[in-house]
Amino acid sequence: MFRARILGAAAGGGLPQWNCGCANCQAARRGEIPSLTQSSLAVSGDGIFWAILNTSPDIRGQLVATPELHPTGPREVPIRSVLLTNGDIDHVAGLLTLREQQPFTLFATPEILAVIAANPIFDALAPEKVTRRPLALDTEVEIAPGLTAELFAVPGKVPLYMEGAEAEVRTDLIGEQTVGAHLRAGGRDIFHIPGCARVTPALARRLDGAALVFFDGTLWQDEEMVRSGVGTKTGRRMGHISMSGEDGSIAALAPLSIGRRVFVHMNNTNPVLRPNSPERAEAEAAGWTIGQDGMEISA
Ligand code: MLT
Ligand code: MN
Ligand code: ZN
Repeated sequence: MFRARILGAAAGGGLPQWNCGCANCQAARRGEIPSLTQSSLAVSGDGIFWAILNTSPDIRGQLVATPELHPTGPREVPIRSVLLTNGDIDHVAGLLTLREQQPFTLFATPEILAVIAANPIFDALAPEKVTRRPLALDTEVEIAPGLTAELFAVPGKVPLYMEGAEAEVRTDLIGEQTVGAHLRAGGRDIFHIPGCARVTPALARRLDGAALVFFDGTLWQDEEMVRSGVGTKTGRRMGHISMSGEDGSIAALAPLSIGRRVFVHMNNTNPVLRPNSPERAEAEAAGWTIGQDGMEISA
């Protein structure tokens, strides 16, 4: 048995983002399209105990909104672990909310754990309660009862706050800084890849035959943020593949046999966030589901 609950379907900033006046953010403020919280996924292999993949600054509200994750005793929660797929703020800042002497295991690559270790504010997670488990790439480990995870490198970059002053930032690194998670439960293969710069042949081979894939849905097209007037960065510069186009994720995954394909980590400028948009219709016609907060998907 495998259950997944999207806790937050938006990229960093959420929808609406606090300082953004783009068309989508304004529509969300007016209640015309659903608001979304930031990137996080809860997964379970037995329907009782859960692992949280990435903890966003919105984790508090997400946990309040999810009865399956509520305490079952005075200081007992059904959450067994947290697993990180990169060190970006939208994926690690929620760890600070998970202090309060609560035992769980924190899984991430050695490089991502080094980023956490270099920031003493994370020592708020009591070391005797929260075990940090470095997870080498391509090594399977149990993260909750009946549920294993294996991290694998996907093209990406270091967190924005670690880019430094260098003019040329490498956005296509393949290493421990940006990873996908290969989950296994009840004989099924499920993938969570909220950040990915490019679909390599090796990645396509890995995803072929999966029951369920959650994939980087940050942007519809590479220049979207520039065209929306909210910034100067392209998707490529941010280490995010686009959904559309010849080299986009919809095309790259189209030939693969995948039971269910779901976009997550949508930036607030993405036109697929408008339920009636032609882009949304195009993604859905290609077999994709646009993830929403609270959406439950089993496999
Ligand atoms: C990203 O997904 O590119 C990052 O979350 C951006 C950020 O840190 O704001
Ligand atoms: Mn992000
Ligand atoms: Zn916006």
